[in-house]
Amino acid sequence: FTPKILAGKKLLLTAGPTREAIDPVRYISNHSSGKMGFALAQAAAEMGAEVTLVSGPVSLATPANVARINVDSAQQMLSVVMEHISPQDIFIGCAAVADYRFADVATEKMKKTAEQMQLSLIRNPDILATVAALADKPFTVGFAAETNHVEQYAKGKLTRKKLDMIAANDVSVQGLGFNADNNALQVFWPNGQQTLPTTDKLSLARQLLTLINQQLPTK
Ligand code: PMT
Repeated sequence: FTPKILAGKKLLLTAGPTREAIDPVRYISNHSSGKMGFALAQAAAEMGAEVTLVSGPVSLATPANVARINVDSAQQMLSVVMEHISPQDIFIGCAAVADYRFADVATEKMKKTAEQMQLSLIRNPDILATVAALADKPFTVGFAAETNHVEQYAKGKLTRKKLDMIAANDVSVQGLGFNADNNALQVFWPNGQQTLPTTDKLSLARQLLTLINQQLPTK
């Protein structure tokens, strides 16, 4: 039995990697499987929230009672998020969004000619920071994937991106983080913090959503 603590709340979240095209057949991406974000979507729906999940390319089934929108690139993810953001109570950025994209995407398959090749990258927009900067922003939760100085870097992102909460994971630990079934989180908000020790991603998602619910402004 799951208490419906999020009944009446609208929650939008991102999950999975993005793909940044080089040409019509190639891209750069990362190892995000979508498991953490899909666990959050499932847990939130079970807790009674109306859930919209914006997912990068992953091979996971859509959890029950979740509205899913698929995207490829960071720019597509940003535009779908902005299209759906206005009635939301909570936004969670769990996607591993590519920080950079190719400056010029070739329209035809690139040919193998030169011995060396240089491709130029430009910064992608920051989806989380864009949401957090809205005048009428939802309760905005980021993730931080770090390999060192986890607390310091996560707290930096909380302040710099003006978030309400950040969930940091140490992705250098074998068996946790990217493409693993388990994870552990250090959660920070402006005047508090909590450690959620290693467990499966669904249990962790339930604990994180319980914390988010406790920190939601009372209307
Ligand atoms: O998908 P899994 O295999 O289950 O793995 C889960 C996970 C490790 C991907 C997940 O737990 C996680 O840490 N997600 C965030 C990964 C990430 O990109 O972290 P970051 O520290 O680089 O980014 C910080 C925050 O800014 C994140 O909330 C990210 O969604 C957001 N961001 C980053 C760049 C960008 N252009 N736009 C963003 O919104």
